[in-house]
Amino acid sequence: MPDIRVQFANPEHLEACMELENIPLRRVIVAKIQAQDVVIALWNHEVAGYLRLEYLWGKVPLIGLIRVREERQKQGLGRCLLSFTCKHLQSQGHTFLLSSSSAHEPEPQTWHRQQGFRECGILLGVNERGQSEIFFRRPL
Ligand SMILES: CC(C)(COP(=O)(O)OP(=O)(O)OC[C@H]1O[C@@H](n2cnc3c(N)ncnc32)[C@H](O)[C@@H]1OP(=O)(O)O)[C@@H](O)C(=O)NCCC(=O)NCCS
Repeated sequence: MPDIRVQFANPEHLEACMELENIPLRRVIVAKIQAQDVVIALWNHEVAGYLRLEYLWGKVPLIGLIRVREERQKQGLGRCLLSFTCKHLQSQGHTFLLSSSSAHEPEPQTWHRQQGFRECGILLGVNERGQSEIFFRRPL
C-alpha cells in the first residue's frame, strides 16, 4: 500500500510544484505557496498531485488548476486533494467552490461531475484556438 498524504505545499516543494504547474513564473507560485493556496498529494513522499486555489474578485474560491501525475491518475489522489480543499474552505466559512475545464476535454468534465460539481456557465473562446471553458460549482 502506498503512503498517501495531502497537505498544504511548503517552500521545499517548489520545484515539484513547478513541474506540475502551467504558470512558468516562479515568484507567482512562491506567493501562492506562502498564502496556503497550494495543496499537494504526496505518494510515498513524492509530489504526485497538485491543486492551486484562486479567489474570484478576491473572495469566491476557484480551483485554478488541479493535476495528478499521469501514472498516478484514477487512484483517488484527485478526490483526496478536493476533499482536503473543501474542508479547509468550509472552515473558512465558504459555502461553495468553483472549478473549470476546457470544453474540448471530456475526461476532466466527467471527473468534476463525479465529484459533485454541476455545470454553472461557459466562457466562450477564451482558450487557445478559441476553445471555450466550462465552469462548475460544488456546494461545500
Ligand atoms: C482530473 C484529475 C485531476 C482527476 O484526478 P484523479 O486522481 O485521476 O481522479 P480520482 O482517482 O481521484 O477520481 C475519483 C473517481 O473518479 C473516477 N475517475 C477519474 N477520472 C475519471 C474519468 N476521466 N472519467 C470517469 N471517471 C473518472 C475514478 O475512477 C474515481 O472513481 P471512484 O471514486 O469510484 O473510485 C486528473 O485525472 C488529471 O490530472 N487530469 C489532467 C489534468 C486536468 O485535466 N485537470 C482538470 C482541469 S484543471
